[in-house]
Amino acid sequence: MKTEKGTILRQECIAKDTYRMVITTTQSADMNPGQFVNLAIANVMLRRPISICSIDKDSFTIIYKVVGKGTALLSRMYAGECIDVFGPLGNGYVIEEREQEVLLIGGGAGVPPLYELAKRYLRCGAHVDVVLGFHDEPSIFYEQEFRDLGCEVYVATMDGSYAHQGTVLDAIDQEGIKTSFICACGPLPMLKALEQRYTKGYFSLEARMACGMGACMACIAKDAREADMYHRICKEGPVFAIGKVVLV
Ligand SMILES: Cc1cc2nc3c(=O)[nH]c(=O)nc-3n(C[C@H](O)[C@H](O)[C@H](O)COP(=O)(O)OP(=O)(O)OC[C@H]3O[C@@H](n4cnc5c(N)ncnc54)[C@H](O)[C@@H]3O)c2cc1C
Ligand code: FES
Repeated sequence: MKTEKGTILRQECIAKDTYRMVITTTQSADMNPGQFVNLAIANVMLRRPISICSIDKDSFTIIYKVVGKGTALLSRMYAGECIDVFGPLGNGYVIEEREQEVLLIGGGAGVPPLYELAKRYLRCGAHVDVVLGFHDEPSIFYEQEFRDLGCEVYVATMDGSYAHQGTVLDAIDQEGIKTSFICACGPLPMLKALEQRYTKGYFSLEARMACGMGACMACIAKDAREADMYHRICKEGPVFAIGKVVLV
């Protein structure tokens, strides 16, 4: 992990309040799906953690939703500007090469890290189903991009404005998807619901972060089995095996 000044190669709005940014980096070879970068944004105090969505030779891509001051300022940066990147951070998804059927489940701003993960599993020869959950049709992104990789893609919208109405679990039930190994990233209620059904796979967790590198203990999660044991989401995570930590 290191701090470097990247250059923004591209910045575009790809869905409602959702932007894709491509940044130059010298760190591609060290990046793995599920890891994140901590971006310094002018006029906000703390860096903002954003998942690595796609890794290329001399650049990487992030996709972020505008939810507050930091992400709003980020969305106003433009191609050619420099951006201070600290990363890659955390532990990403373990690639279980023996799994030949993989189900990736993303909710909203949790979708991006699954894209590079899908590429890795496809490279291993796995069949990859992807279920994407969004609030409504204007919020949908990367349905076609996952399909172009070679994944089977299903979409659920809470308001029923596109494809399956309801949650990602509703879409999984309606499509009769039986895959037992999952990798998921998304809002806590989604992960909690998935934990009721699945025992094999990995969840990527979010937390309010400060240092992003394990020093401040702002982002701890309690171990699900051992009393008084905690894990730092930024350092031991953000990806954990299902059942490893208590979801709160
Ligand atoms: C490891 C990690 C990876 C992430 N990857 C992505 C990503 O790929 N794309 C993306 O859009 N977002 C991602 N996030 C969330 C992103 O970091 C926050 O949305 C961002 O920091 C908000 O900054 P802000 O200044 O715009 O909002 P703020 O003004 O700080 O907050 C606005 C609202 O967002 C909520 N919020 C802020 N930070 C978080 C957080 N970390 N987790 C949950 N809620 C938060 C606040 O509670 C508040 O309601 C990730 C977070 C983590 C920890
Ligand atoms: S954000 Fe400081 S330890 Fe995780």
